[in-house]
Amino acid sequence: MISKKLFEELNKQVTYEYFSSHLYLAMEAYCASLNLDGFANFFKVQVEEERAHAKMFFDYINRMNGDVIIEGLDKPDANFKNLHDVFKKGYEHEQFVTSRIYLLMDIASEEREHATISFLKWFVDEQVEEEESFFGIMKKLEMIGENVSALYSLDQELAQRVFVPPVLTQG
Ligand SMILES: [Fe+2]
Repeated sequence: MISKKLFEELNKQVTYEYFSSHLYLAMEAYCASLNLDGFANFFKVQVEEERAHAKMFFDYINRMNGDVIIEGLDKPDANFKNLHDVFKKGYEHEQFVTSRIYLLMDIASEEREHATISFLKWFVDEQVEEEESFFGIMKKLEMIGENVSALYSLDQELAQRVFVPPVLTQG
């Protein structure tokens, strides 16, 4: 049985995931404004991923006979100093999302809600990849510095990223 408290937190996560999508949309717009199409593509894929995450929580709540409540989204902070700042903020945001997933996992564990623990495991693993991805690009940008040709190569590399819909092992 999922408690009222756990349903509330799962519901909040639907909003947090949509907010992530909204924040990355602002980052996509910033990269597009710099004519960095590859970086813009990286965020375009990220936007789709976050929407998919939101829908996974949405579907899970429904499957468990809970009520999904759709809330409003905050305006994302889009005052980026430079490209490095974008990835620093993205990395910090992903660390926050990880803390949210851990909180959900802690509640599910306290309640011995094994189905939810199993559902959340996918997100625990996903967060390792998300943090790694943002941190890795942030570090590359530090190495690149003012080297325009290196920046161009990274932009070309990020242009290759495609959205792959996540697959849950459950159901
Ligand atoms: Fe996410």
